[in-house]
Amino acid sequence: MSKIMSAPTLHHFSSLFTLFIVLLHHSNADVGTASRYSPPYLPSGCYGTEATQFPSSNLFAAAGDGIWDNGAACGRQYLVRCISAEQPRTCIPDQSIQIKIVDYAATAVSPASAGGTTMVLSDKAFGTIANMSATLINIELQQV
Ligand SMILES: *[C@@H]1O[C@H](CO)[C@@H](O)[C@H](O)[C@H]1NC(C)=O
Repeated sequence: MSKIMSAPTLHHFSSLFTLFIVLLHHSNADVGTASRYSPPYLPSGCYGTEATQFPSSNLFAAAGDGIWDNGAACGRQYLVRCISAEQPRTCIPDQSIQIKIVDYAATAVSPASAGGTTMVLSDKAFGTIANMSATLINIELQQV
């Protein structure tokens, strides 16, 4: 006679699985797109010409319409990582960055490398998670 899983064990597994799915959905991670922009970065849509607005890491971004939130996005911080891009191996594996929103993509002084993205990353931010020769990447973002 072959040994099969007892009903309680199966039930236990499916409960754990359900819990896992629920936790995943509550992580607040979202997917979107990112382009990049280069200097000049000032004046910005959030803080004008204030020189202290940029984090010392130089990891910052301009918010696209999807997250601009009528200006409430200013100062918000996001964990961002590159998921994929049109060109294979564009994403730098296992790299995630924490960026600060300092600008509004639609009114930024410098043009974005691609239009309509969730956010426009500073050169430093983009280059930390992806190959700089790319103009558009798919990202996972999570507000922190
Ligand atoms: C970045 O992408 C370009 C163009 O696809 C490629 O030639 C270059 O080798 C890539 N650089 C790295 C470090 O993968």
